[in-house]
Amino acid sequence: MRAFARLAVATLVAAAPLTGVMAAQAADDPTPVTVLTSDFEDATVQGWTGRSAETLAVSTAVAHGGTHSLAVSGRTAGWQGPSLSVLGTFEKGISYTVSAWVRLAEGSDLARLSVERRAGGTASYETVVGDTAVSATGWVNLTGRYTLSADAESLSVYVETASTTGGLYLDDVTASYVPTLPIQTGIPAVKDVVTEFPVGAAITGAEITGTHGDLLARHFTSVTPGNALKWDATEPTENAFSYAQADPLIAFARSHGMRVRGHTLVWHNQTPAWVFQDADRETLLARLENHIRNVAAHYGDTVGTWDVVNEVIDESQPDGMRRSAWYTLTGLDYIRTAFRVAREAAPAARLCINDYNTNVAAKRDALYALVVKLRGEGVPIDCVGHQMHVNVSWPSIAETEAMLKKFQGIGVQQQITEMDVSIYTSSGESYPTPPAERLLAQAYAYRDMFALFRRYAADLGSVTLWGLADDNTWLDTFPVTRKDAPLLFDTRLQAKSAYWGVVDPSRISSPSASTSPSASTSPSASTSPSASASPSASTSPSASTSPGKSSCAVSYRVTGSWPGGFQADVRIVNTGSAPLRGWKLTWQFTGGQTIAQLWNGSVTQSGGAVTVTAASWNGTVAPGAAASVGFLGASTGGNPAPAAFAVNGATCDIV
Ligand code: XIL
Repeated sequence: MRAFARLAVATLVAAAPLTGVMAAQAADDPTPVTVLTSDFEDATVQGWTGRSAETLAVSTAVAHGGTHSLAVSGRTAGWQGPSLSVLGTFEKGISYTVSAWVRLAEGSDLARLSVERRAGGTASYETVVGDTAVSATGWVNLTGRYTLSADAESLSVYVETASTTGGLYLDDVTASYVPTLPIQTGIPAVKDVVTEFPVGAAITGAEITGTHGDLLARHFTSVTPGNALKWDATEPTENAFSYAQADPLIAFARSHGMRVRGHTLVWHNQTPAWVFQDADRETLLARLENHIRNVAAHYGDTVGTWDVVNEVIDESQPDGMRRSAWYTLTGLDYIRTAFRVAREAAPAARLCINDYNTNVAAKRDALYALVVKLRGEGVPIDCVGHQMHVNVSWPSIAETEAMLKKFQGIGVQQQITEMDVSIYTSSGESYPTPPAERLLAQAYAYRDMFALFRRYAADLGSVTLWGLADDNTWLDTFPVTRKDAPLLFDTRLQAKSAYWGVVDPSRISSPSASTSPSASTSPSASTSPSASASPSASTSPSASTSPGKSSCAVSYRVTGSWPGGFQADVRIVNTGSAPLRGWKLTWQFTGGQTIAQLWNGSVTQSGGAVTVTAASWNGTVAPGAAASVGFLGASTGGNPAPAAFAVNGATCDIV
């Protein structure tokens, strides 16, 4: 039962709401593969060492699970802490979810989970989980994702604290991954369908390896390094330039004939503190000039477009300008200098001013006024970048069109630079699994936005999405930590309804259509072109409304099994023409199976009779939409699939 217990723990960590960014994978995806477990229950330190001269010992004073934990004492610096080599455990290109429980011996502080990677004799430090409040009063979970994107000579996971150096405890450390699927080759490439302008994706090192690299090269014609060209990456200390992060990304783009957007030369974020240290106007502008001259010249004409300045507008200020340190010390001169030097250092590059919320009237008006003013002075602004971080219900197409219209006719090109469509409409929401109706709304948003962009192709130089697939999106931690799903491909790199919204909207139903769409509207069904119904079936009302037909279809899938246990997904598709409001799904187990843990709903079981009731957020299922639950079960003997399913007492088709 030990293997079962370990697997179950790993699965539950991934399945439970709010435990980490991988939460959404459990219901739709197979069991994660656990590559590392440290529970210290065997009273050994299980390979953990100190990063310096700390003392590590197994303790029974406190424990997160079981009776033992790892106690670390004798720390003399915040960066000292427990460390475990994962060289040979972590493989390149695989995205691991790393989870650890931390507790302090005394007081409170912030703790981080990090990775130290050494290559070519140089160490780099990557944050897996950023500063998180920890204390001596309880255990705190740190869960994050790590992808090894380059070869390493040594590789270790470690825990450190921000300021205090007291003792700490560590327990129940796990690392797991969900195997990726091969990319779909039978579906059209986005770049072959949207040919009016380059379509790009923002990437990190993880996206150029393995199947991620295949997906990127197959669908996109442009890349934007998401972080690798920011100041903290390229000039972390004064006049010491580093292109180690960006060069591999740009080499990938070049070798695949893709364009490169350089993001970004000047920003108020991700800029090292030294830049503003003891700076007056002249020093700051000199540092700025040196930075741009070096970085822009390093790439020459390989970078076709630069976001020269990023997010300089604050429409709440009387003059519309963000009160950054740049602005406070130089007024508009940092912008003037940045564009002048960028033009001199990279004469062939298109130079953009980039900002978010440019669909909001006050913001776009302030940006417009600035662009017109500076261009009037001869500042070489060639292009306005609209970030387009939007969500499933905002903004409207009309607002977005007004944004594009505003900048027509003033001599600038426009680019959509960072588009993603969050499934959330407020900071308070959090779903362990993206609800079907949100994914459908997202598909409509992508459909309508891309239709608009294609109508404005004469004004648009490119459209870039801020990420490749839902397994790696900045929205998992912004504005709060929760799993988001804002892109065209899901966490396993498979095409979502959003993809079909861009590539072939006939494969998703119209929200206003009065006919009942078929199962082809369900997000997962629509990801496979062959799985979706033919256009005539999907629009024929008689297909789902003729008397005697059921109005639900259920698929039951065992996604993993091991001696004594299994994991399964059950998916209900509303094949009727009316919304399903509140559902109870029932079936009979005939092999003695019992459900140990179920997510996305609640369960009762009496003998073999199982009743699953919708969760609060997935109780309403629109026609053509679907709801899924997943569970862990125990089985002794065979594990026969249930022979029949009913929703609210009415028998469903089995698919
Ligand atoms: C984001 C990156 O994607 C994250 O990895 C990083 O932690 C923060 O910045 N607007 C921008 C981008 O211009 O640079 C930001 O990128 C997202 C918002």
